[in-house]
Amino acid sequence: MCLIKFNKFYYRYKGNDEYALNNINLKIEENKFILLCGLTGSGKTTLIRCMNGLIPQFYAGYYRGSVEVAGKDTTETTIADLSTEIGIVFQNPENQLISMNVEHEIAFGLENLGVPREKIKERIKECVNITEIENILDKAPFELSGGEQQRVAIASILALEPRVLILDEPTALLDPYMAKKIINLLKEIQNDKKITIIISEHRMDLILPIADQLILLKDGQVIEHDKCDNVVNGLNFQNLRINKPFIFSIFNQLKKEKLFNEKIPTSIPEAINYLKNLIEK
Ligand SMILES: Nc1ncnc2c1ncn2[C@@H]1O[C@H](COP(=O)(O)OP(=O)(O)O)[C@@H](O)[C@H]1O
Ligand SMILES: [Mg+2]
Repeated sequence: MCLIKFNKFYYRYKGNDEYALNNINLKIEENKFILLCGLTGSGKTTLIRCMNGLIPQFYAGYYRGSVEVAGKDTTETTIADLSTEIGIVFQNPENQLISMNVEHEIAFGLENLGVPREKIKERIKECVNITEIENILDKAPFELSGGEQQRVAIASILALEPRVLILDEPTALLDPYMAKKIINLLKEIQNDKKITIIISEHRMDLILPIADQLILLKDGQVIEHDKCDNVVNGLNFQNLRINKPFIFSIFNQLKKEKLFNEKIPTSIPEAINYLKNLIEK
């Protein structure tokens, strides 16, 4: 089933001459882990803002075409309504955390939606458990570390039980260890809840091995959207000026040296299997 559908969508911010999004045609399906990738300024954040109605409802600008979320047109559905389908954790979670303490923060969205008190308690318990933040429930958001803030932001979105969870560069403020922990947590959540997770992220090494699909954005256009190994083995990826994942770099070099002539793998177990074969040859 298709959860988000862009149809010939164009968007230009008010005051800018250039279109930030150019003829986007995109379908996001259920239960997928999707990596959104592109240079700074390619339109990742703008694309994400369209997925819960912030564009065009909140940001001033001009648009053409349509975006549908679970069959609802994002120009005809309130952002509050869309937030029950799509949850977004933006780049600086601290800007998103507004309550006196963590428990209130998680309850806030649910209270706004008029969820009964008992149900709120249940949902808080579950999300707190998943994100392992039991011990910081009575702390104020500003007292927390970057990793803790990230977990709280994820918990407060998960409490709304969205069908799609979107994170815009979630590990930008985290050290490598915490980044890996958060990414692994997200994979567990996706496996467990069968929701779709979309992550815009520069650290491809962390996400590519666990992602199902890769979306490549360039100059406001989706230049590729497919299974990770198909995209990684295509010319668009080859030509993209981003830090390539280690596995890709190693196998790409082996290819150049004519030692390897198959599809470049994206996960560590696949890579190891190929290397074993090479060694045994
Ligand atoms: N709030 C805004 N107002 C005006 N222009 C913006 C705004 N946000 C982004 N842009 C412009 O839209 C283009 C795409 O930016 P963005 O979506 O932030 O890309 P990315 O997230 O891939 O770095 C850039 O040219 C950027 O300058
Ligand atoms: Mg961005």
